[in-house]
Amino acid sequence: MPTISQSPTDPAFVQDPYPFYARARALGPLVYWDDYALPCTTALAATSAILRDRRFGREPLEPTTPEPHTAAFYAVEAHSMLELEPPRHTRLRGLVLRAFTSRRIAALAPEIEALCAELMGAFPHGDFDLLPAYCTPLPVRIIARLLGVPEDMAPDLLAWSNAMVAMYQARRTHEIEADAARAALEFSDFLRLYVKERRSRPADDLITHLIAAEEDGERLSTDELITTCILLLNAGHEATVHTLGNGVKALLEHGPDLDWLTGAGIDQTVEEILRFDPPLHMFTRYAYEDIELFGHAFRRGDEVACLLAAASHDPAATPNAQAFDPTRRPQHLSFGAGLHFCVGAPLARLELKIALQALFARHPKLRLAARPSYANLYHFHGLERLIVRA
Ligand code: HEM
Repeated sequence: MPTISQSPTDPAFVQDPYPFYARARALGPLVYWDDYALPCTTALAATSAILRDRRFGREPLEPTTPEPHTAAFYAVEAHSMLELEPPRHTRLRGLVLRAFTSRRIAALAPEIEALCAELMGAFPHGDFDLLPAYCTPLPVRIIARLLGVPEDMAPDLLAWSNAMVAMYQARRTHEIEADAARAALEFSDFLRLYVKERRSRPADDLITHLIAAEEDGERLSTDELITTCILLLNAGHEATVHTLGNGVKALLEHGPDLDWLTGAGIDQTVEEILRFDPPLHMFTRYAYEDIELFGHAFRRGDEVACLLAAASHDPAATPNAQAFDPTRRPQHLSFGAGLHFCVGAPLARLELKIALQALFARHPKLRLAARPSYANLYHFHGLERLIVRA
């Protein structure tokens, strides 16, 4: 397998990882990324094949003992559907999907519209950062509502979530690990107390539904209930915040054309944003048996990285893939594929659609007031700031 080197914290790479993906893809569908010491998929077909192949999975074959300062973090992760395979994965995902019906998601549209209007009504005068003013609060407050967690907890949810997801970033240090463990502990303590209090106050929300499953005993343990809430609160906003920011940037740099934002155009625009500049670039899998694929012999237990963003820029699947073109019907893997395909995709799509339409309808002259730059967060890809003028 060809080898390639690239520091994931190199400033030029952080700003624009796509030239690296193109170089890697030119070497083959599977390359060995030196800095991660991992084979990586570079092409859409290879990435999709591994994500859908049941001989690969998220859960390591052998449980590892975490270092003491990270134990609290991994104690939460141990019950996360994202880190598990069937049968536990099937049970946990099924419980969430039953509450995450398309009817329940579609019914959120008026609330999302009202929240967009409220946030825009509070935009400051002059140049301002659209991330804290719009892109961040929208998905956080919506997922808090859907779960049934008080919205005034949003600043805490954000702080805990940011500290926890930092565990998946290349710039991870001992301090970042300790912060993530502290956040995991505080987050679970909060939810443990909150769930206890909520038992006597059922409502039409996800926590009530999960509590019912937990009281049933067989279906959900208290630890699983806590972790599922944390996963939904974290996954429910981190990626959407960055997609919204990256999407507004792409639109402002390339137009925007009114047709991209109205009628049927908006759905394609959202998909093209997800393809062109996705927020999550890498997810890994373990081989569960010896497998020969793309000319490489995987041994049982080997790890492989699926480069979702490289796949979505594969010219074999998307001609002229480096161009932003909301008039095409794009192919992308930004929500993953197979068993772990994003549970929140319908909600994320709805939020992105409404937030973009509402923003450009109210502020048709919106423009960039400073050059946006990406934060050093790989394998997340999101902006540090998005300074605009309305
Ligand atoms: C634009 C926004 C989003 C993107 C790009 C995104 C992306 C992804 C990806 C790539 C995966 C699969 C990871 C893997 O295969 O290893 C995933 C899984 C997941 N996502 Fe999302 N996501 C987004 C929004 C959301 C939202 C809004 C929610 C919750 C409301 C959510 C909840 C989840 C959950 C629970 C999983 C785990 C599913 C499983 O393991 O079966 N995501 N997401």
